[in-house]
Amino acid sequence: MKRWEYSADITVSKFTSHGDIAKVEANLQNLSRDFGACIAIPQLYGRDFLDRYPQALDDFWKFDNDLFPLLMIGMPLWAPFKIVKEGLAARTRIITEIEALYRRIDQYQHGHPIDFDADVSDVSETASERNKIYERDGRSFPERGVGDLAIFWGQNANTQPVLFWLLTYVYSTFGILEQFREEIAPYIGISRTTPPEITSLDIPRLSRNCQLLKACILETYRLVNEPTSIRYVARPITITDGGLKHGLTQGMFVSVPHSLTNRDASVYGDPDKFNPARFLEHDCSLGKLVARDGRLKPWGAGAAMCKGRTFAEKEIMTLGATTISMWNIAPADGRWELPAMVPGT
Ligand code: HEM
Repeated sequence: MKRWEYSADITVSKFTSHGDIAKVEANLQNLSRDFGACIAIPQLYGRDFLDRYPQALDDFWKFDNDLFPLLMIGMPLWAPFKIVKEGLAARTRIITEIEALYRRIDQYQHGHPIDFDADVSDVSETASERNKIYERDGRSFPERGVGDLAIFWGQNANTQPVLFWLLTYVYSTFGILEQFREEIAPYIGISRTTPPEITSLDIPRLSRNCQLLKACILETYRLVNEPTSIRYVARPITITDGGLKHGLTQGMFVSVPHSLTNRDASVYGDPDKFNPARFLEHDCSLGKLVARDGRLKPWGAGAAMCKGRTFAEKEIMTLGATTISMWNIAPADGRWELPAMVPGT
């Protein structure tokens, strides 16, 4: 089994022999989430990282899904609950493994023998350069592990669930799938072998020419993301808001929940419906429909806006498009019933 299949409760309900269609029942959320993570993490930390740390995905989701929301609502770290204890243990393991990785990167950069003789030659420029900066600033290895938890978390916590929801909306919304496949087909080569495989992928043209794909992603952000910008007030300031005045004192934190309008019917008609067309506008100069984000702010705002937004969008676009071009997906009991969702960022 592939690593991303472990948590998906897979059963093969019909095995393919000549001409048969293979049917597999799986937990789509876990499967797409872990598939995305298995593609993304080696891009940042190299292939050896996940191979050496097989529990990484379990630990990550335990930390992100179970512990993180509790920390957000102010649960103290000492709270005597199993969920908190296990979430903290998972977080510690992630930090320890990232710390060990940074030791190996450092050994590689200094031409020293590398722990376990590991191959770190494919670690990204991002992690390599971060190590140089950590070293320049005199950061210890435990500090490098803690410092990178945010990057590891930022890379996966939002992107992988968005991929799941994009797939779910496209497969479950009547009429979208066919148009979507027609739009992406020229940019994805598929072999005629059994089973079929992807032979080519033109990411720049997929990104430039597929406006429905882009609109589907924007509509997924609107329905499932809850971005909030949190800012520290460094200097006292008074903000005038119509007839109101808000005095912000030094040391306060301000939360700006950008998603408040995402399901507001006066901004987006029929707001609970997945309707990517609401983000498609006719551009007169180009003479075609173009996807525009309008009032949506999935990445927050200002200088601290998401630094991974280009990576995230390209990842969701390529994994979404390739999955949709390769697989037919339907609910196991024949009826689409979308699961409830927990707000994310
Ligand atoms: C769909 C996927 C993603 C969403 C919806 C998302 C959303 C956000 C939001 C709302 C913020 C806060 C911005 C603010 O304070 O105004 C943020 C910050 C950040 N994100 Fe993302 N993000 C995604 C993917 C990623 C990825 C893949 C990475 C890294 C590869 C990443 C790295 C970061 C970083 C480093 C920050 C902090 C920026 C700063 O404080 O300067 N994000 N993201």
